[in-house]
Amino acid sequence: MDEHQERPRARRRGQVPPPRAPRPQAPPPPGVARTDPSPDAQEGVPPPDRLLDPVPGPEDCGEEVRLRPRTLAQYIGQERMKANLRVFIKAARDRKEPLDHVLLYGPPGLGKTTVAHILSHEMKASIRATSGPAIERAGDLAAILTNLEGVGILFIDEIHRLQPALEEILYQAMEDFQIDIVIGQGPTARTVKIDLPRFTLIGATTRIGLLTGPLRDRFGIVHHLDFYPVPDLVQIIRRSARILGIDVDQDGAEEVGRRARGTPRIANRLLRRVRDFAQVEADGRIGGPIAERYLERLEVDRFGLDRLDRKILLTIHEKFDDGPVGVNTIAAALGEERDTIEEIYEPYLMQIGFLDRTSRGRRITARALEHLRLARHGSQGRLWE
Ligand code: ADE
Repeated sequence: MDEHQERPRARRRGQVPPPRAPRPQAPPPPGVARTDPSPDAQEGVPPPDRLLDPVPGPEDCGEEVRLRPRTLAQYIGQERMKANLRVFIKAARDRKEPLDHVLLYGPPGLGKTTVAHILSHEMKASIRATSGPAIERAGDLAAILTNLEGVGILFIDEIHRLQPALEEILYQAMEDFQIDIVIGQGPTARTVKIDLPRFTLIGATTRIGLLTGPLRDRFGIVHHLDFYPVPDLVQIIRRSARILGIDVDQDGAEEVGRRARGTPRIANRLLRRVRDFAQVEADGRIGGPIAERYLERLEVDRFGLDRLDRKILLTIHEKFDDGPVGVNTIAAALGEERDTIEEIYEPYLMQIGFLDRTSRGRRITARALEHLRLARHGSQGRLWE
């Protein structure tokens, strides 16, 4: 049985202090973004200078919102997810019901927030956005939930970072559309049930394994977002270029797409940086050779690897005999956060077949060694300074 199902009921119910009274026009409760979210923007662990960081930096926010598709029809890629969502949206709308709760998971930068906003648009339901770490206390969550009148969709990014005690409140709300709050203290304290408006919770996470079973089970619709193949990225880049007025041809878009780590956010960022070079040092047009030249200048190699990727691979090769080596050991050797390596670097390195995750730790693959121009256990030479 899941350990979390054994939590005492006393903890599950009646732990919520009274929320502020619902006010239709109230400002958003604590932890709620008023306008467009990019809640994960504040939470990014990696350094801000990473061109290939899938977590949005401050420079992304304005343009990312501009480039974000608004409808399922505008959304490129993730075909299976889109086909299913179309059915669920139509079914819910025909029944005049809210959509079932939706859980979106996958690496950062693949469009979980975008999909949440598209669902809001397609369901004609307004959306309120927050993130797991922004909700600190039970009272904050109770205030958010009791202020959902007329909102329709609550989006919680990084839902795996919600405190366990708050997860329990949330899954009661998801299932019963009610929460229990405690009025008063000590022996005179009493529990009052508050009815909530029907709402759809959209949760997004990069770490589905960190959600408790009971919370995960309450999402009726669960979708994994995959890394995008290069042809999809090319379409996304060409669409973004049209919106931003950038002159990029098919070869140029392919060059950028190949190095974008399967991630639209990175593709759009690389496009903007190459545009800067093309504008200042050439005639502004981005063809294949121009894209290649400037991506090299940006130190993005043809697999989209940057310095930290290469450091991870070289560390496993040089210090740990190609592995297997545990992620904690790699993190310590590099002076990086384990979460950064696990959530941001490893998924892509595994996706392109450069890293294997075994029960005994991580191993570098022959393909990666080849890319690093090192024969396995061969050359003594170092590739990078
Ligand atoms: N911009 C970022 N992601 C996108 C997508 N999946 N489709 C269209 N434009 C995008």
